[in-house]
Amino acid sequence: MEELISKLHAVLGAANTVQEVEAIRVNFLGRNGSITLLFEKLKSLPNEEKKAYGAHINSVKQQAEKLISESLATVSEKELISKLNAAEAVDLSTPASVELGSFHPRSLVLKDLEEIFESMGFYVEDYSETVTDYDCFESLNIPAHHPARDMQDTFYLNNGQVLKTHTSAAQNHIMRKYGVPVKAIFPGRCFRAEATDAKHETTFYQMEGIMVDEGISISNLIYFMKTMLSEVFKTDIKVRLRPGFFPFVEPGFELDIACTICGGGGCQSCGNAGWLELCPCGMIHPAVLKEAGIDPEKYSGFAFGLGVDRLVMMRYKCKDIRDLNKGNLKFLSQFKGGA
Ligand code: FA5
Repeated sequence: MEELISKLHAVLGAANTVQEVEAIRVNFLGRNGSITLLFEKLKSLPNEEKKAYGAHINSVKQQAEKLISESLATVSEKELISKLNAAEAVDLSTPASVELGSFHPRSLVLKDLEEIFESMGFYVEDYSETVTDYDCFESLNIPAHHPARDMQDTFYLNNGQVLKTHTSAAQNHIMRKYGVPVKAIFPGRCFRAEATDAKHETTFYQMEGIMVDEGISISNLIYFMKTMLSEVFKTDIKVRLRPGFFPFVEPGFELDIACTICGGGGCQSCGNAGWLELCPCGMIHPAVLKEAGIDPEKYSGFAFGLGVDRLVMMRYKCKDIRDLNKGNLKFLSQFKGGA
C-alpha cells in the first residue's frame, strides 16, 4: 500500500492542471480506483484481521485525500497566476481614455451674455418653464381672444398652465419682486407649437432683459443692444432696427441681424431674406407697468426678448437651429475648449 502512496506522490508532482489532478483522484479514489479496490479485499479477510487491515487502508485513503487536495490548491493557484499573466491580464499602467465632454454652444453664449449684463449691473433671474395664462399673456396686455395669441400657440397643461412661449412671461413677476428701479435679464427655455425649419424650433431659448427707472428712453435701449452685440461678436456686425408690434411695448421694434452664414445674400438659414429676426424690443407699455404695480407717469423702461438660439446660429455659423437640440456629439464636439 505504501507503493500506492509513493505512486500518487509521483503522478501528482507531474500534474500541472486542475483537470489532471481530478483525473488522478478518479484513478485512485474513484469507484474503481486503486485505493477504493483495497476495501473489496476487506470482505474476504478473516474477522481477526479485518480490524487492523481496515484501519490501515483508512489511513492510506486519508493520506491520499490530503495529498490530492493539497495538489489541487497548488495547481489552481498556478493556473490563476498564468491566466493573469497572459490573456486576461489587466495592465493598470495603461492610460485611461481621457475623452472629455464639451460645453453646448448655447451654454457658451448664455455664459457670455450673463457676464456682459452682470458687468453692467443687471440681475440674472430664472423663472419656471410652466406658467399661468396670466404670466404669459394677460399681464402683458394680451387678453383672451387677442389676435397676438395666435402667433404664440403653445401647449396647454391639464392644470390650466401653459408651457412658457416667451421669456416675457416673467416680466410681471420680476418687476413685482424688485420694484423700481430694476435692471434684470432672465434667460429661459420657451415652447411653441411651430412648424420647424432652419430658424424655427418648437423648443428654443430666449433671454429677456428689462430696465425700469425714472427717465429711461429709447437711447438707453439702443445703447444696451449695441453693447451686447459688440461684446458677443467682438467684431462689427450689421443690424437694423425697424418698427414691430407687440402688445406689451410701445413703441416696439424688431432688431434684425445681417445673416452671418450667407453674408446677407440670402440662404436657407435666414429664409432667403439676408436678415434674421434676432431681438425684438421696445419701451414697456404703460399698462404692463401698471399691472406690475409701477406708476407709468413716473417711471419708464425698456424690454427686449433676445432669440438666444438664433444668436448661437449667427455666432458659430450653425446653419440649422434644430442641430442645437439633437444631442449629436459630432456636431457638439466642434465647440470643445470654448469655455
Ligand atoms: C417675443 O417672444 C417677445 N416676447 C419678444 C419681446 C420681448 C418683444 C420684449 C418686445 C419686448 P418673438 O415671438 O418675435 O417675440 O420672439 C423673439 C425672438 O425669439 C425672435 O426674434 C427669435 O429670435 C426667437 N424665436 C421666436 N420663435 C422662435 C422659434 N420658433 N425658434 C427659434 N427662435 C425663435
